[in-house]
Amino acid sequence: MSGTGTAEAAVRAAVDGFRAVHGGEPAGVWAAPGRVNLIGEHTDYNDGFVMPLALPHTTRVAAARRDDGVLNVHSADVAGGTVRLHVGKAAPGGGAGGADGWAAYPAGVVWALREAGLLSGDSGRTAGGADLYVHSDVPTGAGLSSSAALEVSVAVALNDLYDLGLDAERIALLCRRAENAFVGVPSGIMDQMASACCTAGHVLHLDTRDLSRRQVPFDPAAEGLRLLVVDTRVQHALGDGEYARRRAGCEAAAEALGVRTLRDVPHEELDAALARLADPDLRPLARHVVTENQRVREVMARLDAGETRAIGPILTAGHASLRDDFAVSCPELDLVVETAVAAGALGARMTGGGFGGSAIVLVEETGAEEIGKAVVDAFAAAGHRAPRLFEAVPSQGAR
Ligand code: ADP
Ligand code: GAL
Repeated sequence: MSGTGTAEAAVRAAVDGFRAVHGGEPAGVWAAPGRVNLIGEHTDYNDGFVMPLALPHTTRVAAARRDDGVLNVHSADVAGGTVRLHVGKAAPGGGAGGADGWAAYPAGVVWALREAGLLSGDSGRTAGGADLYVHSDVPTGAGLSSSAALEVSVAVALNDLYDLGLDAERIALLCRRAENAFVGVPSGIMDQMASACCTAGHVLHLDTRDLSRRQVPFDPAAEGLRLLVVDTRVQHALGDGEYARRRAGCEAAAEALGVRTLRDVPHEELDAALARLADPDLRPLARHVVTENQRVREVMARLDAGETRAIGPILTAGHASLRDDFAVSCPELDLVVETAVAAGALGARMTGGGFGGSAIVLVEETGAEEIGKAVVDAFAAAGHRAPRLFEAVPSQGAR
């Protein structure tokens, strides 16, 4: 699905869609991908380390500038998908002039750009308006960051339309601000950085404290491996409070330990730190974050040593930590991991925020089909909805 022919067809479809909905020609088509995270989960709001890769699945935005301050945005992926609002009036929680629900993401990006003094929002010329036509093949609510793909694709479009000169990091930060302050989801920076900064054939090693990063070569297919994604089709929702509760728990643990964030607890000092935490509910949260940062270090060391197969057990250990300590897994995600590992996978784990969504499974190419079938059969036997499986080919970020 990532072939050039398919990408060209998707660009053509976006241009055709734009013409049909808005009339006239778009100035161009911009794109940003969804992501999976290889390792480093629930670490990004603790100043920790993450290691995402971009998927071939992409959100495309055909766009043209408007000088009347109107944002006219249509998504081909939702019913009744056209929303029109005045850029100068978009405000967090205010319904964004009709932009509730999905349109809060593009409206939030415009709001964040305006807040940063980059778009005027006044009527008259250069008022920051745009006609946008959105079309995506990133599954929504599957833990694959369709929301970040939407934000980043809109931001890169506006960056070019208005000649804002923003680099990928600044775009990611503005998109996270849109998501936190406008949409109201208290997420970290991983998803937006992944969508904006990943490169094909690599995972992005990101230090979320200072955003220093390194592209680490990762090309499973070249080594006779496959990284599979299993979308459990259990819709996750990070806005429903559990995510925010984990986040607050981590902050409380850091405060009790007298450190800025849990990133500042060295792995060697974990036992001593846990002994100092009086609240027993905070101990497993701290243990997950500290051990997960260590797992990111270990995965990076293995990849740097060219020992890709050796990351498998580290991924599976990460899942156990998310299931038992951080308590963000669900029966369907656990079933993927148990079944895949029992069927011979090198490793498997849930990816993204959890409470549903997707898992990743690292397999030998030769065993991929059999292991995929074992997972599908296990879902059928358990009476779960059939999962969706596809390959995670490390792909290019926003373009
Ligand atoms: P995830 O980012 O893991 O897919 P979220 O629940 O954080 O899950 O974000 C999904 C939401 O993002 C959707 O419910 C919708 O509001 C919005 N969204 C994502 N992609 C699109 C799209 N192509 N068109 C319209 N809205 C979208
Ligand atoms: C969500 C969130 C990210 C990150 C992740 C868990 O995907 O948007 O910022 O916290 O959960 O690692």
